Amino acid sequence: MSSLHEMAHAKINLYLHVTGRRDDGYHLLDSLAVFAGAADELRLHQGSRRGGQVGLRIEGTFAPGLQADDCADNLIVRAGALLRAHVGPDGAAQLPDVDIVLRKELPVASGIGGGSADAAAALRLLCKVWALDIARAPFMELATRLGADVPVCLDQRAARMEGIGEELTPAPALPPCGMMLVNCGQSVSTPQVFRTRAPVFTPRAILPPQWPTLAEMVRDLAAQRNDLQDAACALCPEITTVLDVLRAAPGCRLARMSGSGATCFALFDSPAVAQAAQGAVRREGWWVWAGDLCRSGGRAVQGIGAVLA
Ligand code: C5P
Repeated sequence: MSSLHEMAHAKINLYLHVTGRRDDGYHLLDSLAVFAGAADELRLHQGSRRGGQVGLRIEGTFAPGLQADDCADNLIVRAGALLRAHVGPDGAAQLPDVDIVLRKELPVASGIGGGSADAAAALRLLCKVWALDIARAPFMELATRLGADVPVCLDQRAARMEGIGEELTPAPALPPCGMMLVNCGQSVSTPQVFRTRAPVFTPRAILPPQWPTLAEMVRDLAAQRNDLQDAACALCPEITTVLDVLRAAPGCRLARMSGSGATCFALFDSPAVAQAAQGAVRREGWWVWAGDLCRSGGRAVQGIGAVLA
């Protein structure tokens, strides 16, 4: 029995502009996504039977937030179903069954793309174990069917997301910096946040090819916004408290909500400065993580995270 594993890193939207709305209700976005060292982990065990079935077991800090009964709906299991459909019934009959163990260390439904990162990691793992060589364009199309954030999570590389999130272009080169993530322990529904936001649109941002220093990046990001932040704060007022606490943390250069919330991020001069500020931020029931960005693809970069129960 062989075993493979993949990390599924947290995706942070440094800014998120809603630029329009499609006829099917999906919103057009302009967002800069980066990845933090904080991650879920997927471990895959190959079974002896064939048929391409994907079994799922969930463990880790946030496993209780994901019901075992809902495993069939989990994006990891749906990633398996999509790949089986892609190869067709004859091909699928030859694929070995697999069991995936998900170690859930990212808060659930929290605006840092945990579910999307898990789905992308499952696609990477399953393609490896099933020896599927799918060209990039159809692979991205499959990923988009699982969710608008899944394509960017496939590469786990900083990228500008447009369209509904699936049109990816390289991000400006990022400076060294530290990041802190804080989640107040409440889930926020993405569709509800989109429905609650004021129906106004923000233009696409103008970005430089690179940010040589954190000061230059912070200056430009301060001119951008997260268009979902006000709606998420209205639905979950504790997000405002998290943002106030982050802004007051020693060394914080910029604090903002990621995605549709509730997780907020703050930028610091270095991972060490971010880690030193953790003590000032901790509150009962809050998940706090501090560490580095993945500045060159999805390599795990050391960070420290904890939930205070
Ligand atoms: O694609 P995903 O499953 O992540 O999206 C969840 C929900 O968020 C969608 O059903 C939609 O209501 C909203 N959404 C949106 N525009 C996007 C992405 C998500 O309206 N670009």
